[in-house]
Amino acid sequence: MIPKDTIDKIIDAARVEDVVGEFITLKKRGANFLGLCPFHGEKTPSFTVSPSKGIYKCFGCGKAGTSVSFIMEHQQLNYPEALKWLAKKYNIEIVEREISPEEKILQNEKESLYIVMQYAQRYFSNNLHNSDEGKSVGLGYFIERGFRADIIEKFQLGYSFEDKKAMGYEAVKNSYKPEYLVKTGLSILSNQHKEGEPITEKDIFDRYSSRVMFPIHDVGGRVIGFGGRILESDKKPARTGSGGMAKYINSPQTDIYDKSKVLYGLWFAKKNIQEKDSCFLVEGYTDVIAMHQAGIENVVASSGTSLTVEQIKSIHRFTNNIVVLFDGDSAGEKASIRAIDLLLEEGMNVKVLMFPDNDDPDSFSKKVPAEEFKTYLENNTQDFLAYKTRSLFNETKNDPIKKAGVIKDIVQSISLIPDAIIRSVYIKECSNIMEIDENVLQLEVNKLRRKINSKSDFKKEPESFTNEVEDLLLTKEEQIPATFVTEHEEKELLRLILNYGNVVLEIDTENKEAEPHVFEITVCEYVLFELMRDNIYFQNPIYQMVLDEYIHQLQNENLPNINFFINHPNPAISTFTIELSSLNHDLSDKWSTFGVFIEKEIFTLKKSTQHTLYSLKEKRLNSIISEKQELLKTTEGEENETMLREISRLTQLKINVNRLLGRIIVK
Ligand code: CTP
Ligand code: MN
Repeated sequence: MIPKDTIDKIIDAARVEDVVGEFITLKKRGANFLGLCPFHGEKTPSFTVSPSKGIYKCFGCGKAGTSVSFIMEHQQLNYPEALKWLAKKYNIEIVEREISPEEKILQNEKESLYIVMQYAQRYFSNNLHNSDEGKSVGLGYFIERGFRADIIEKFQLGYSFEDKKAMGYEAVKNSYKPEYLVKTGLSILSNQHKEGEPITEKDIFDRYSSRVMFPIHDVGGRVIGFGGRILESDKKPARTGSGGMAKYINSPQTDIYDKSKVLYGLWFAKKNIQEKDSCFLVEGYTDVIAMHQAGIENVVASSGTSLTVEQIKSIHRFTNNIVVLFDGDSAGEKASIRAIDLLLEEGMNVKVLMFPDNDDPDSFSKKVPAEEFKTYLENNTQDFLAYKTRSLFNETKNDPIKKAGVIKDIVQSISLIPDAIIRSVYIKECSNIMEIDENVLQLEVNKLRRKINSKSDFKKEPESFTNEVEDLLLTKEEQIPATFVTEHEEKELLRLILNYGNVVLEIDTENKEAEPHVFEITVCEYVLFELMRDNIYFQNPIYQMVLDEYIHQLQNENLPNINFFINHPNPAISTFTIELSSLNHDLSDKWSTFGVFIEKEIFTLKKSTQHTLYSLKEKRLNSIISEKQELLKTTEGEENETMLREISRLTQLKINVNRLLGRIIVK
């Protein structure tokens, strides 16, 4: 753990223009610097660095951040790693917080597991290249399948001997503890071993025997697992061991290998994914390797399990664009339809590509020259909607009932897309292909969206923050869903409290005796009080996160300013705040360009705060009222009357809010 004051010291030292300038050439333009964006290919510079704000922003691709996030992004490091990188550059000594003995044991044990895995990888590779059995059986297998020597090397492929004691004995001889061999899943504990007794080499045997070995790396390049394939060239034996042998045996879930989070090939691909701003998703180990061999490096595999949200997020860190490639068989197709929906839901742009007959990327790439393979990918990638309509439509032909089913299915997929603009593009396209009125589709999508939104409203309690920096490290791909009614007001309230939190307002009210009364309150107290009084949470989860963090800081008697949030370790918070602060900037720019004297915002602060609060409340009341009116249609009798009374009470409230709103004329 890096102590807080050291973090502050590093952030102070790491001038953004200095840090960015180490990687790209910056030219001075007025108060800012300008250069070519390192995150997307561009010919004219749109990458701006503002020394006064301590931030960078690319007007081409939208990437923005601080010196720390620049290093995270550019060097592919996590937050503590980026801080250490900067500390080294600026000669700042980091004295890490002492960790507890329990933490230490866990950390040491994990370290040991990584070391054992690294040993095993070298051991299996050595078998493959330097033993008779490995050369004739393992290497022979790879060569027969057309794997090139440099690719075998690059993916650190290996071979496990037929003898089920070979690896374990060798490892123990080299002083690796049997206990760790079991914990990594490399060895299996024999049932002869009595619990509580120390494990010796006699108690274990190798999980893999007579298999070619595919090491699985984490995103930082450490070996965390293995897939071992039998040597028969049989195309698709059973997935389980029932009857024959399983085609692949994979490492079990361990302390260092969480299957739901890892994608095969990501370490080899991440740089290229970023450069190409796109990622291919395939099914198997061999598909990833074959694509590399054909010169395509932005590819990862889900390795036969169904794709998880965590896996998607790990791709989304690098790109928005994904192309799902799948085998031409129907099992492949079914799996990918599920995957597509998940990807859409995570806000990715999804394309699909199918291979002819029963080919997969591996087999197809071996049939044609590399250039032709690339051309095939380029020409046959289709949009998910076109793909889905075509494949589903073929089944239904002229059956109207089935057609309706297909439309529902497609609309369901579209409704998952978080971005409203992209959704509407798809609705239009779908209406053309299906010959259905666009409005009908839009209504249907809206209905489904409401369900999705209300689900996510309850999904999580507002997160409470701790001081542990690592805990704050949510992934930056936290998406902002696009259709929150009061999003604008929420953002404006945050802008106000971040910029003017401690400014004192004089609010006119009445006291108990109904006499006019003025009381003083700061902007932040006023906003928080008004929100809490009506139990209002922000609809946009990121905004709520910022608000929670703000409250948390207040409770610790800090009044956080805008810089606190710009330098926040959570990239979602930092990116949002940078955008907010450029909002201020845009305004002041416009003012000076027109040379008009503008009343400083601070003088209208009371009005703008109240206006925003009331406007938020009005909109919320509107949604609640229309929801209730919708419900009214389904109720009867007494329930119906209660509902009616409730609606009229809310309507009265709305009138009051409106009256307040009308009194405040802003600008
Ligand atoms: N898989 C698995 N266990 C099996 C079969 C498959 O874990 N018994 C996983 C593997 O990660 C495999 C992926 O599912 O890479 C895709 O399966 P498949 O297409 O059958 O294997 P390929 O990788 O294409 O292997 P090959 O080309 O050698 O047949
Ligand atoms: Mn395959």
